[in-house]
Amino acid sequence: MKKILTQELHLSLSADVPSISPKFFYDEIGSHLFDVITLLEEYYQTRTEKYIMDSYQGVIADAVGSCDVLLDLGAGNCAKAGRLFNSIKPRQYRALDISKEYLEAAVADLQKQFPHIDMQAQEIDLSLPLAFPDLQELRKIFFFPGSSIGNYDPKQADQFFINLANECNGNGGLLIGVDLVKDLDTLNHAYNDSLGVTAAFNLNILLNVNRITGSNFNIRDWEHYAFFNASQSRIEMHLRALSDVQVHLPGNGAEDQLISFSAGDLIHTENSYKYTQDHFIEKLGNAGFDHIHSWTDPQEHFLVCFANAKKMS
Ligand code: AVI
Repeated sequence: MKKILTQELHLSLSADVPSISPKFFYDEIGSHLFDVITLLEEYYQTRTEKYIMDSYQGVIADAVGSCDVLLDLGAGNCAKAGRLFNSIKPRQYRALDISKEYLEAAVADLQKQFPHIDMQAQEIDLSLPLAFPDLQELRKIFFFPGSSIGNYDPKQADQFFINLANECNGNGGLLIGVDLVKDLDTLNHAYNDSLGVTAAFNLNILLNVNRITGSNFNIRDWEHYAFFNASQSRIEMHLRALSDVQVHLPGNGAEDQLISFSAGDLIHTENSYKYTQDHFIEKLGNAGFDHIHSWTDPQEHFLVCFANAKKMS
């Protein structure tokens, strides 16, 4: 996996618009920093999604129906799935994420609380197509909370939904949380928090790139930069060079690279798309889901949907 990731980073960092995929945020430190972000007052998303899930627990469980296996996509610390177990009652739970050690520890903890559920941790890159041939006959419920779908470009999101609808095989469905378009201040503050945790989360991506590739990014040369791009309906996160910087990127088998950045240059690290309710439900419908149930909070800041995979004709 390391070699493939290194190649990917070589390409993305030397492109005309240098970028680092947001999946590289989630090393051990990044996963912990993200957990802290979810506790911040300014980051309304996590507590709002929890409010919706808690308020509509029974109705959501009724909409979901029976669940042979709950597939938790980007499970992180597995806490969100754990809160569903008493209402949705999955027979199996599969936690999927890119950060293996962190995931295994979280699943081991959860297994102690729910010894009757068959649990597995699986290392996975969610930016690649997903396939679960070993679960083909089972009624699968995909769980994709936290508006992680917002980190996909809209076209990628459509492909991802088509992939999941196909994997459902005419049965099962997708329980998903998504962040909604709202006023500018709320959005900008959520990604520029006053404690600087999001800034640390963004900068830590460079330390992870150093670990993976052996590069020599110095985080003191960079600053966090995030803003809402209204025409694209997305928060953009970047790292901005504070001075002229040269970074050595070892080739690990291929050619080494020396990449030069001038003061003010940007590395694009994340997009976080914000949807309207109607548009999001329409996307799910176009991708192969129907009978879409949705729930929101009184301020309509966040949306939770359960979308049934269309029956095979
Ligand atoms: C994981 N993802 C939905 C978060 C988001 O809001 O796009 C990641 C994040 N980036 C900065 N803060 C949180």
